[in-house]
Amino acid sequence: MAGAERGRTPLVVGNWKMFKTSGEGASFIRDLAEALSGVKDREIMVAPPFTGLYEAAQVAEGTCISIAAQDVFWEREGAYTGEVSATMLADLGVKAAIIGHSERRQYFGETDEWVAKKVCAALDHGLQPIICVGESEEEREAGATAEVLAEQVPVGLSLVRREDAGRVTLAYEPIWAIGTGKTADPGVAQEAISLVRREVADTLGAEAARMTRILYGGSVGPGNIDELMAQPDIDGVLVGGAGLQVGSFSRIVRFEKP
Ligand code: PGA
Repeated sequence: MAGAERGRTPLVVGNWKMFKTSGEGASFIRDLAEALSGVKDREIMVAPPFTGLYEAAQVAEGTCISIAAQDVFWEREGAYTGEVSATMLADLGVKAAIIGHSERRQYFGETDEWVAKKVCAALDHGLQPIICVGESEEEREAGATAEVLAEQVPVGLSLVRREDAGRVTLAYEPIWAIGTGKTADPGVAQEAISLVRREVADTLGAEAARMTRILYGGSVGPGNIDELMAQPDIDGVLVGGAGLQVGSFSRIVRFEKP
């Protein structure tokens, strides 16, 4: 049974990474809102860099688009040069935060323990965490995908209270598929995402696993979105490169329902 029939509204998130000035982001959101008029039954988010969040939240107000941050720090305030707290993000009108993206793990040394603390802070201050997990190419080739997910998912969720489980989203993003044009075959993505769902069930219980949205990310584009969204466990997508143009992103949002 597909996620929507289980009450999991499909979610499409555009991760802008380090692209778009504040002004460029604002005009993108205006154009996107127009391109998506009439779209129903799905949630749409974009994640600008920190510098664009204020203006993005202002422009998105009253449209079908909500705003996510690309990261969040776990402390509320303090002497943490360069960091931004969940309270500060919520104050701008930001609704969600991507946490533990593989680029942050790879270039900035994020660990599963940090992810857990950030998830907890996001939930405590009204932000919806979008937790990224996924294996590297070497790990997949070594047959270690399940093992990697069995570490990342439970540790990342370790500080989540059961009553908050419905507010958590996960994104399975195999590192070998990110920005490479090598999308996971829909069957491969489905298989890994069903493993992620099993880990959620083992950590937070079967009911939580039924409610939790799990996205796929990694070279998603207009050419593969329909096939990906036809998989029973894929509840949406996290989009990088193809999310930077209104045309390709709005086509992704308008995926065909199976
Ligand atoms: P990509 O990035 O769509 O450009 O592969 C996905 C991501 O990093 O979230």
